[in-house]
Amino acid sequence: MKTRITELFGIRHPIIQGGMHHVGYAELAAAVSNAGGLGIITALTQPTPEDLAREIARCHQMTDRPFGVNLTFLPSFNAPPYPEYIDAIVQGGVKAVETAGRSPEQYMPQFKAAGIKVIHKCTSVRHSLKAEKIGCDAVSVDGFECGGHPGEDDIPNFILLPRAADELTIPFVASGGMADGRSLVAAMALGAEGMNMGTRFLATKEAPVHDNVKRAIVKADELQTRLIMRNLRNTERVMNNAAVQEIERIEKEKGESESIDDIRHLVTGAKGRLVLQEGKMDEAAWSCGMVAGLIHDIPTCDELIQRIMSETEFIVRERLAQFLNG
Ligand SMILES: Cc1cc2nc3c(=O)[nH]c(=O)nc-3n(C[C@H](O)[C@H](O)[C@H](O)COP(=O)(O)O)c2cc1C
Repeated sequence: MKTRITELFGIRHPIIQGGMHHVGYAELAAAVSNAGGLGIITALTQPTPEDLAREIARCHQMTDRPFGVNLTFLPSFNAPPYPEYIDAIVQGGVKAVETAGRSPEQYMPQFKAAGIKVIHKCTSVRHSLKAEKIGCDAVSVDGFECGGHPGEDDIPNFILLPRAADELTIPFVASGGMADGRSLVAAMALGAEGMNMGTRFLATKEAPVHDNVKRAIVKADELQTRLIMRNLRNTERVMNNAAVQEIERIEKEKGESESIDDIRHLVTGAKGRLVLQEGKMDEAAWSCGMVAGLIHDIPTCDELIQRIMSETEFIVRERLAQFLNG
């Protein structure tokens, strides 16, 4: 399949693996890229820029296909050394960066000078237009369904994607709630030129997370996610567990007076590692999308991507075509 996204990133299939904290190591990124998609290493999972440089080198050893790095601009006072992380990306010869969180505007000249293509993840049309204006090459439009941070507008992809299509000139991928060939065809019908998946890639053989996490996704239906940190305007969609129930109790009690310190001991960060890496499923909140309801197995990335592409072809050539022919 050829779209502006496959052309932009030099990939075979229009499928991107979104950055995932404590998940996006070289093993997963290389597996996705070897399967013809765009795998993404998560920069801030590496404790220092030197560690990121080593992770990028490791990924180059595992694949000769293009892969990217996610750089999440956190709403924190204690900002990580972003310029040094960007140096590691540039020196590592990476040609694709997925930015998320705050606007990447101040770093765009550095990315451009290095010939890096930037795809910015946005949860609204206005942020997507801003990304286009500051020179991003593409946008990942992340609907309310998504695992992780859906923003504060609560607009699902059935509305958000066609709205983005009406306004944007640069290409975009659909993100949030994507799992299979049906998702890809629907996303393309709504104006996207590919799709980005997080939760679906968590439940693959190569995802370097504990088996308990993969099993929890397979077991969950679409009703098992919760939204936390709404009071803090830093909403996160997470899988329900004991930690999340405790967060909900605290958030109800504190209301508008809640501060991050009230729940810090239960949210992702250092604590998320305990769930994702050690499989202690009730220790902290961990990002997960509603799409868990569509995930019933733990394939390799190659099996998953091949299956998505053959489903896509079947839907377009046979299922949809029959309605026209009939
Ligand atoms: C466990 C997990 C961790 C994530 N961590 C990040 C992150 O560090 N930075 C980021 O930009 N997005 C992060 N995301 C969001 C994904 O990149 C992607 O946008 C989202 O998962 C898409 O929705 P889906 O889960 O329905 O596919 C994370 C998602 C999950 C499930």
